[in-house]
Amino acid sequence: MREFNVFSDILPPNVRREDLEPIERLKGIVLSGGPHSVYEKDAPYPPDFIFDMGIPILGICYGHQYIAHKFGGKVASVEKREYGYAKLRVIGKPKLFKRWGRDGQVWMSHGDSIETLPKGFTAIAETDNSPYSAIVSDDGNIIGVQFHPEVKHTERGSEILKGFVIDICNARRQWTPEHFITEATDEIREIVGGEKVLCAVSGGVDSSSLAMLLRRAVGEQAICIFVDNGLLRLNERDKVKRSLGKLIGLEVIDARRRFLDALRGIIDPEEKRRIIGETFIRVFEERARKEKNLRFLAQGTLYPDKIESEPVMGPSTTIKTHHNVGGLPEKMDLELIEPFKFLFKDEVRKVGRGLGLSDEIIGRHPFPGPGLAVRVVGEVDEERLEILRQADAIAMEVLERAGWYDKTSQAIVVLLPVRSVGVMGDARTYENVVALRCVITEDFMTADWARLPYDVLAEISRRITNEVKGVNRVVYDITTKPPATIEWE
Ligand code: XMP
Repeated sequence: MREFNVFSDILPPNVRREDLEPIERLKGIVLSGGPHSVYEKDAPYPPDFIFDMGIPILGICYGHQYIAHKFGGKVASVEKREYGYAKLRVIGKPKLFKRWGRDGQVWMSHGDSIETLPKGFTAIAETDNSPYSAIVSDDGNIIGVQFHPEVKHTERGSEILKGFVIDICNARRQWTPEHFITEATDEIREIVGGEKVLCAVSGGVDSSSLAMLLRRAVGEQAICIFVDNGLLRLNERDKVKRSLGKLIGLEVIDARRRFLDALRGIIDPEEKRRIIGETFIRVFEERARKEKNLRFLAQGTLYPDKIESEPVMGPSTTIKTHHNVGGLPEKMDLELIEPFKFLFKDEVRKVGRGLGLSDEIIGRHPFPGPGLAVRVVGEVDEERLEILRQADAIAMEVLERAGWYDKTSQAIVVLLPVRSVGVMGDARTYENVVALRCVITEDFMTADWARLPYDVLAEISRRITNEVKGVNRVVYDITTKPPATIEWE
């Protein structure tokens, strides 16, 4: 939906009336798919009040079955799960399919299906396997589709979503970068008022865009700092100073010793993140104390950070504590403002471009707040950081020259806590292993490993083992996310 400029948000099934009703511009609700069966004991049910709000509702897959179940239809387990492509035929002239056409391929993935229609509903599309692949209530407000319009395998699926969002909900296509910048600027001005806000910049696209936005909103009331935590890539600090220094009045704070001291002896990844998050905050607070009226801390937290750190579905597992969300210490003297917390990465890029950031910054791969500390697997020390820095710089240089940096979403080198036997000249070596990981992803929630050409892999491996003292082996990580994550820790 955001791709066609309509704002959308993901909420848990136990959302409360007080959270939804005040949203003036709420135009419609989608009930998502899910792995459950409506008759299961712990199946999540959306709250009843949403059906009385007078706004259109679209159920997808499980959501579709839930609608049938709620309004008195019958849902049954089919013998054979329907999984894969199906040919959908539209019945009559329903609004939902106005843009899509009469028939086409859709993607099915379900075990249950609707056996009898609930009263007051009619079928608006069918497949060979199911006469109720899409249904609508008599007043046109409640719609269900058994297939998945949101996946790429469904032909022109976004035309079906547009049918719901634009033709049925009458949502206006206003969610554009310009619109966001204007709204966010006003909001920041209102919150910050006459006080000051501290903005920590890492040089990545998120924090750089954030700093530009803050400077636009409140000028020099936004104090932009770059903390050198000793966990940066080779020459990172100089690069950032060069590209952003003047643009946002960037100030550098050297806190290398402090971070490395705090990390000494720590092996557990979550503990590393917590310590780094905490140390950042202490550094920020100290800087803030030098200023009168400094009340706020701006963070470039994104939507996926929030989703992964604060799972929407009740007590589920936290995948990782991203330092800029879950890793914040409970006691903090500064109030957080997070203007990007509803944005995906690609949206931040568009906003950054709209604010005048250079292509070099816009096109940079993300770099995690905990920096190289989560890429030195195991204990972090200056010596191991330096080995990783050298290997990482070579990998990035080769990827860039070969034109693969821009073709991948994130490339990282990880220093492993194992040593392997090798031979150099005529002598036996017993040295470190580094892993190269290059992924392609749209939203960093799921990712595939990049099919780098063998020549590029060969060049990276040859140069790292030749040029980096202490590394005698390079491996390439060929795991998708899930089941792996992008970072190793
Ligand atoms: P994972 O490893 O969770 O990473 O698949 C997804 C994306 O998030 C980045 N990442 C972080 N960014 N603080 C950050 O600011 C963190 O603690 C953190 N951990 C992971 C990671 O580099 C990837 O782009």
